[in-house]
Amino acid sequence: MSKKRLFTGLQPSGALHIGNYFGALKPFMEQCEEYDSFLMVADYHALTTVRSPEELRENTHSVVLDYLAVGVDPEEVVLFRQSEMAWIFECLVTVPFLQQAHSYKDKVARGMEATAGLFNYPMFMAADILLYDTAVVPVGKDQKQHIEYAREAGTKFNNAYGDTFKMPEALILDSVEMVLGTDGQKMSKSYKNTIPLFGTKDEVSHAIMSIVTDSEGKRPENVFAIHKLFRAESELDVLYEKNEGNYKALKEALIEDIEKLFSPMRDRREKFAKDAGAVSDILEKGAERARAIAGEKMRDVRKKIGIR
Ligand code: AMP
Ligand code: TRP
Repeated sequence: MSKKRLFTGLQPSGALHIGNYFGALKPFMEQCEEYDSFLMVADYHALTTVRSPEELRENTHSVVLDYLAVGVDPEEVVLFRQSEMAWIFECLVTVPFLQQAHSYKDKVARGMEATAGLFNYPMFMAADILLYDTAVVPVGKDQKQHIEYAREAGTKFNNAYGDTFKMPEALILDSVEMVLGTDGQKMSKSYKNTIPLFGTKDEVSHAIMSIVTDSEGKRPENVFAIHKLFRAESELDVLYEKNEGNYKALKEALIEDIEKLFSPMRDRREKFAKDAGAVSDILEKGAERARAIAGEKMRDVRKKIGIR
C-alpha cells in the first residue's frame, strides 16, 4: 500500500522562531518517515507581508537552511505553487465565509492592509494542501481554522464535480498548542516577541532576558510556559521551587536548555550554508516532484470543470 501524504509549509516572512519549530517543524520531523512527506516554503503566501524582493529571496534561502538544520532530508523539500486551483476554490466559497477567518481578522485589526490576497489566503492554502492529496498537516493551533477551510473548499468541489479531493486532518500537538512570546502573547514573526530558532546565543539570551515577568503567583508563568517545551514539568516544578523569586537564575536555566537542543542544529545549519549551490539544487529537484503530482491533479480538475 502506498504511504499517506504529510504536508506542511512555513512562510518565509522573517527568521523562524521556536513557535514555528514546536508548532510545525517538530511534529513534521516526528512523523515524516511514516508518510510520503512534503515540506514547502510558502513564498507566495509571504507576499501578504513581504514587499521587498531581496528580503523575500533571502528569507526563502534562509528558511530552506532552517529545514536542513532541523534534519529534513532534502529529497523531501518542495517549493511549488498553484494559484489556478485557489481561484477555482474562490469561486465556490462565499465572502461571508471567508470573512470569518480569525487570521484575517486579527491581522487587519493589527493594522495590516486588507488586501485581496490576505482575504483569499485560506483558499490559496487549501490549494496547496488539496492538490497533493494530503492526509495529515502538522501546524500550530493558529492554523486549525485554515485546515477546516481547506476541507470545506474540497467538499464544495467534490459535491459540485464528483469525488476529487481527499479530506486532510490537522495534526496539532496537545503539548504545544500555542507557543507564547516574550510578552506572553502568541509568538509571531510580526509581533516582535519571538525567540529566534537559530539566532546567536546572544540573541537568544537577549530575548529570554526580555521575557515579561510580572507574575502574581509563585513562579514567572511566561518563563515557565516556554520552559516546559524543553523539559518535563515534574523537573521544572523542582527547579522553579528551588529558585523561587530568582527570575534571573530561572531564565539562565532556560537559556541553557534552549542551547542544548538547538546548538547541534545550528552547527548543521552553518555547514549547509557554506555549500553555495545546495539550496537551489534542492528546491529545483523538489519542484519537479511536486509539479508531477499537482499537474496530474490539475488535469483531472480542468476536465471536470469544463476547461480544456
Ligand atoms: P507562519 O510563521 O505563520 O508561516 O507559521 C508556520 C507554522 O508555525 C504554522 O504551522 C504555524 O501554526 C506555526 N506557528 C507559528 N507561530 C506559532 C506559535 N506561536 N505556536 C505554535 N505554532 C506556531
Ligand atoms: N498558512 C500557513 C501559516 O501561515 C503557511 C502555509 C501555507 C501552510 N500553505 C500551507 C501550512 C499548507 C500548511 C499547509 O503558517
